[in-house]
Amino acid sequence: MGEALRRRIEVAKGTMMTSGVEEVFNHATVPSDMGELLTDPRSFARPNEVHEALTWLRANQPVSQVVNERYEPFWLVTKHQDVMDVERQANIFRNGDRSTVLIPQDMLQAVEKVMHSPHLTRSVVNMDDREHRVYRSLTQSWFMPGNIKKLSDRMRGIARTHVERMLERQDGECDFVSDVALHYPLHVVMEILGVPEQDEGRMLLLTQQLFGARDPELARDASAMASPEKGIAMFQAVLGDFYGYFNKLTADRRANPRDDVASVIANAQIDGQPISERDANGYYVLIATAGHDTTSASTAGAIWALAERPELLKQVQADLSLIPGLVEEAIRWTTPVKHFMRTAAQDYELRGQRIKAGDWLMLSYLSANRDEEVFEAPFDFRVDRERNKQIAFGYGAHVCLGQHLAKLEMQILFEELLPRVKTLEIAGTPAWTQSVFVSGPKRLPIRFTVN
Ligand code: HEM
Repeated sequence: MGEALRRRIEVAKGTMMTSGVEEVFNHATVPSDMGELLTDPRSFARPNEVHEALTWLRANQPVSQVVNERYEPFWLVTKHQDVMDVERQANIFRNGDRSTVLIPQDMLQAVEKVMHSPHLTRSVVNMDDREHRVYRSLTQSWFMPGNIKKLSDRMRGIARTHVERMLERQDGECDFVSDVALHYPLHVVMEILGVPEQDEGRMLLLTQQLFGARDPELARDASAMASPEKGIAMFQAVLGDFYGYFNKLTADRRANPRDDVASVIANAQIDGQPISERDANGYYVLIATAGHDTTSASTAGAIWALAERPELLKQVQADLSLIPGLVEEAIRWTTPVKHFMRTAAQDYELRGQRIKAGDWLMLSYLSANRDEEVFEAPFDFRVDRERNKQIAFGYGAHVCLGQHLAKLEMQILFEELLPRVKTLEIAGTPAWTQSVFVSGPKRLPIRFTVN
């Protein structure tokens, strides 16, 4: 552990002892510079530092409040068991009442002012209770394993095209993120949604502008985020581009329904009425955005791990039945969705901390997925973990709708790619996206030889 972090711990422990165990235990606060680190998007491009802080918190203050002048105070929940306990009780820990993603205080106020709601879009992620069940059930059967399996052959075809294109490179080098990982899941989810191939580039750009709004290399205008009004205007402009596109898609699928998710959404009835334009757009944007960046990140995470561990590549190649284990471990290891937020609807005691009605909580999937009480040697990458209880897809009422799709997509890509490569190695400096919300490898230069 670094010297700087050790000093921070001493300060935190000192505060605990001078204030009396009971009092501080009940109002545990995250040491301020750790709070700064964990709320700064740039930190997530240096995952080791983030993990060092989260490891300390799991051991010393597993549920504690981040008090930081840029953000409204929130509880940081770091243990696997606690994330599950919160998610299991969706009636107590709700999604609709406040933002489901950590955004700065001034930005929250600007969203409220413009949208008259804590949310920039309306989608299942921001709904609770019956409304959530009604909207989720519209597409749920589409994403169940039975239906997803029917798409296997089509996915395999798409995977093969991407693998061929990669392996044909004469120099044996590529940026696995921009050459493979970004496009394959995008192509799959766009086909399911019903967006034609020629529009995929636009969808990718808009998704990156939404999730990478603070990353200077991905944002439409990263400087806009310095001012809440300009930041919201920028988000609205990106969403406006999405909506303009999807309004046309709705009109088309109402006139000519097909066997795709856009047709299900466009023709949905909510309590006997056609779904509103706003709700349909919120749904499309959620699927179009949640459906690929996350899967790309986990796919690239797997290749990063294999490129650094030649023995693991050999192990999987010798026994391809390990691929589902590789997929689970890559998703755990990368944990592309770092958190979601919940708001307490009533007072609640969590690991001895008194959560009050109205308090905001951050569920750290990143931390839960490294919990030493659940995962043996959590920082090792192991394709043969016996029961990988990774929680990267969340849990409970809001558990990821696309989890079966994401896993099958990754499995098929690795089945196509791994038997064909002889060696994989890192051939440059990889980089991570700067985001507190969805972040994964942004650049992964690799060198490979082919069997
Ligand atoms: C490795 C890939 C993925 C990861 C790590 C991931 C992660 C997550 C997480 C953490 C949640 C919130 C769960 C909760 O609150 O308990 C979520 C929700 C969701 N995900 Fe995914 N996701 C992935 C892929 C996908 C794909 C491929 C799709 C769709 C095509 C998708 C669609 C959704 C939707 C619609 C929700 C909202 C569910 C609800 O609120 O009821 N995701 N995902």
